[in-house]
Amino acid sequence: MSQWPRALAATGPRFHRLKKRLKLMVVSRFPASYAAATKPGEQYLQEGGVSEHDVEKTIDDFGDQWSRYTDNSGYYGSAELFSDIISPIMSPDEFAGTRVADIGSGTGRIVKMLLQAGAREVIAVEPSAGAFASLLENTKQQSGQIRYLNLPGNDLPDDLDLDYVVSIGVVHHIPEPDSTIAASHKALKSGGRCLLWLYGWEGNETYLRFAQPLRRLTTKLPHALLAGLSHVLNLCLDLYILACRFVRLPLRDYILKVIGQMARDKRYLIIYDQLNPDYAKYYREAEAIDLLARAGFRDIKTHRRHGYSWLVIGTK
Ligand SMILES: C[S@@+](CC[C@H](N)C(=O)[O-])C[C@H]1O[C@@H](n2cnc3c(N)ncnc32)[C@H](O)[C@@H]1O
Repeated sequence: MSQWPRALAATGPRFHRLKKRLKLMVVSRFPASYAAATKPGEQYLQEGGVSEHDVEKTIDDFGDQWSRYTDNSGYYGSAELFSDIISPIMSPDEFAGTRVADIGSGTGRIVKMLLQAGAREVIAVEPSAGAFASLLENTKQQSGQIRYLNLPGNDLPDDLDLDYVVSIGVVHHIPEPDSTIAASHKALKSGGRCLLWLYGWEGNETYLRFAQPLRRLTTKLPHALLAGLSHVLNLCLDLYILACRFVRLPLRDYILKVIGQMARDKRYLIIYDQLNPDYAKYYREAEAIDLLARAGFRDIKTHRRHGYSWLVIGTK
């Protein structure tokens, strides 16, 4: 393994934290002038003004979440689920022998799935300190095939000549994702492909009527209260799964085929994960396509996974 990724992993977090502190100081001390000094949409952007604080808070929220919940056992971390997530657009065996970056690796669930599918090398990119520690611990047996980068996706080095960039459940938590997708484009070899899984707007309208107002509260709750609420909602989910067996309720396909197969502690985690991170965007299909098209990807294809989320792929 070359030395530069180790060097980046070592210096990256400190440099990133310093950059972050400086930015936050500027934003919190001089919010108006800072906003005025940037182009419209650069720092204070889409959907009701997302500030730099949301970017950092979302990453910190995940750092906290993934230091508490580090276990990826069972169906939640399985090859079957990986196949379910990426099909029918891709199949796991297409990763055999390839070099892949995984943007937003969290605790290493997708990294391990990629290696299990036969990837030769995975570049695991994770900006939060808490998740990064869990990622290192969870993948230490496979570490000879992994380059670890404790960086946000937009800092992905551009000389990687990769076969694939994948990002599963991450880009919808990045308020300004264009720079991450542009960095992914640069890091790919010609003909390389970028695969994203995103929360979908379509199919989630009913769910979001409840979840959006609830998230306004839950993203501000301390862990103990959020954990308590997630346990209560997990009981409600038990009932919903049971009801879905008999009645055509919203999201029935996803509930029965995916959620119903997870262990109870993983269903709790999925609820907590919905309510915890500060920023979450639900993409319309056209927005998902545009995101890849703006970065220069061509031959873009989408698949509406289980009627509630978007799998989108583009070629460099
Ligand atoms: C919902 S978790 C998904 C983790 C993993 N992909 C999985 O499916 O198990 C989202 C992850 O994205 C990371 N993340 C948030 N903002 C990011 C950014 N700007 N660049 C890269 N990763 C980011 C978070 O720290 C978190 O670990």
